[in-house]
Amino acid sequence: MADLQARPGEDKRPSEIPAIRWEEPPEGPVLVLLDQTRLPAEEVELVCTDASALVEAIRSLAVRGAPLLGIAGAYGVALAAARGFDVSEAARSLESARPTAVNLSVGVRRAEAAHHAALVDTGDPTVAATMALAAARALHREDAEASARMAAHGLALLDELLPGGGHRVLTHCNTGSLVSGGEGTALAVALAAHREGRLRRLWVDETRPLLQGARLTAYEAARYGMAYTLLTDNAAGSLFAAGEVDAVLIGADRIAADGSVANKVGSYPLAVLARYHHVPFIVVAPLTTLDPDTPDGAAIEVEQRPGFEVTEIVSPQVPVTGAGGGVPVAPLGTQAYNPAFDVTPPELVTAIVTEEGAVSPVTAEALTELCARARRA
Ligand code: MRU
Repeated sequence: MADLQARPGEDKRPSEIPAIRWEEPPEGPVLVLLDQTRLPAEEVELVCTDASALVEAIRSLAVRGAPLLGIAGAYGVALAAARGFDVSEAARSLESARPTAVNLSVGVRRAEAAHHAALVDTGDPTVAATMALAAARALHREDAEASARMAAHGLALLDELLPGGGHRVLTHCNTGSLVSGGEGTALAVALAAHREGRLRRLWVDETRPLLQGARLTAYEAARYGMAYTLLTDNAAGSLFAAGEVDAVLIGADRIAADGSVANKVGSYPLAVLARYHHVPFIVVAPLTTLDPDTPDGAAIEVEQRPGFEVTEIVSPQVPVTGAGGGVPVAPLGTQAYNPAFDVTPPELVTAIVTEEGAVSPVTAEALTELCARARRA
C-alpha cells in the first residue's frame, strides 16, 4: 500500500507555483496557470494570452476544481478586456467550457458585470478592463478567505461529530490549494485537523479516470506532511467494512436548491457506503457553489468526458500509443461511459459546510436561510 509517514512540523505550500496568477509583462497581461495535467511529475507553468487559450486549459483540466474555475473564469474576462477582445464573446465561451461547476459562470458573470457597468458609466474600455480585473482579484481574495473559514467550521464539526479526536478521513478527487485561492475546501478541513494534531489518517481515493486523488491530493498531502494512504476507488467498500473510516470529506461542483450535491464521479457511491456504515458524509463548499437557480439534482448538467480517458491511461508521463494520446487499457474501439460527476441526494449528506457555517440536516429551507444570513452579514 502506498503510504507516507507524517513529518510533523513540515508544512510547505503544496507547490512552488501558485495555481493561478495574473502578470503584466511588457508584451501585455497574461494569466499564468500551474499546469495540473503535469503533476505530480513536474511543476510547469501554462501562460494564457487570451480567453481561448484559457478555455482550452479548462477543458483539458490544466486548471480545474470548482472554486478555481470561478477565479479563472473571472480572470479570463479581465484578460479579454485588457487585450481588447470582444468581452461578451469571451465570457460566453469561458462559461460554456465545462458545464457542471456553477462557480465558473459565477466568476465569469461577476467580472463581465463589473466590465459592463464601468463601460456604461465611463465609456472608457481601459477603465472597464481595470474594473473587470478588480472583480477577478476580489473573487480570488474572497475565495482564500472563505477557504480559511470553511476549514475552521469544518474542523469544529468534525470534532463535534467525532469527539474522540484522531480522525480517519476519506476524501475523493482533489480539493486543496490547487482548486482555490486559499487552501481549498474539504482538504483544507483535513489540513486544519492535521495542524491541530487530530488527523490520524487521510484516506485518498485515487479518483479514476484522471487520478486527481493520486496525482494531486497525494501530492498536496505529501508536501504538507499529512499521514495519508492512497487506495483505488473500488477499495473504499472494504475500508469502510474494516471500520477504518470515521468521516468522508468531499467538495462540490454545484449544490442545487434542494441540497443535491454534484461532485466528482464516485462521490455518490461513497455517500451510500457512508450511510450503510453510519459514517458522516460531509460536503465542504463555498457559497459560490450553491446554485438556487437549479432546483434539484435532476436539473444539474453532468459533464460527459471523452471515452479515451477510460480506455487509455492518459498522462504526460507515459508514451503516446493510443488514439487519445495515452496507453490503451481496453481493446481498440471499446465504448466507455465517462461522466465526470455524479449527484448525491441531500438525504445522504450529513452536513454541508460553507464559510457561513454548516447546514445539517441538509434541506432546501436550511440552505435558503444560510444564503439569507450570508447576504445580511
Ligand atoms: O473534474 P475536476 O477535477 O475539475 O473535478 C473537481 C471536483 O470534482 C472537486 O471535488 C470539486 O470541484 C470540488 S473542489 C473544491
